[in-house]
Amino acid sequence: MARLKTAILISGRGSNMQALVDAAADPDYPAEIVRVVANVPGAGGLDRAAAAGIATTVIDHRNFDGRAAFEDALHAELTEAGVEMICLAGFMRLLTAAFVERWLDRMINIHPSLLPSFKGLQTHERVLAEGVRFTGCTVHFVRPAMDAGPIIVQAAVPVLPGDDADSLSARVLTAEHRCYPHALRLVAAGQTSIVDEIVTVAGAAGPTGIAVNPDDGVS
Ligand code: GAR
Repeated sequence: MARLKTAILISGRGSNMQALVDAAADPDYPAEIVRVVANVPGAGGLDRAAAAGIATTVIDHRNFDGRAAFEDALHAELTEAGVEMICLAGFMRLLTAAFVERWLDRMINIHPSLLPSFKGLQTHERVLAEGVRFTGCTVHFVRPAMDAGPIIVQAAVPVLPGDDADSLSARVLTAEHRCYPHALRLVAAGQTSIVDEIVTVAGAAGPTGIAVNPDDGVS
């Protein structure tokens, strides 16, 4: 079985990257992680990737004159490495429409909310400020608008009394680590198709969301 050659783009600690790397360590997993690229020198995820034996590259956006030049270098690096699929995993740099078009339907992202609610930064703080009872995470195909695009997998996570942004973020992150490998598996196995910007999953008779874990305190 040919595995889909996948790059992971990070800016920070890379815990979602690690979840993808761990899943892809199984030779039966349909994607292979061939490269980790960070736009931030010293990003924590770089060491974790290297420890897993994955080639890493730093492309520091501050060394480029504008987004297009940065993205040209990124595109060249990925193309040279034979990359077929990109996973954004805590990659905190907006990508231009031109780059998104180059990788259309071949680039996915994880966001720590139930999109389309709570796009952008300070997600958990805003969730708490609104008093919503559930939040979660979303893996979606990337489109030019920030945190938008056809949804592949979501998980619902309860907001509990006494939560602060740290406790909520930790609970959502656990769900992220389940969702992202699941979503990449569906895409890499060719089970997803996009019609009118809605993803359908072949062979999925039931829901393709991940329900709350009863252990998370919901009764
Ligand atoms: C994750 O919570 C991810 O969902 C979020 O950044 C964190 C990265 O953590 N991404 C975004 O907010 C993108 N809009 P990680 O580096 O440990 O994977």
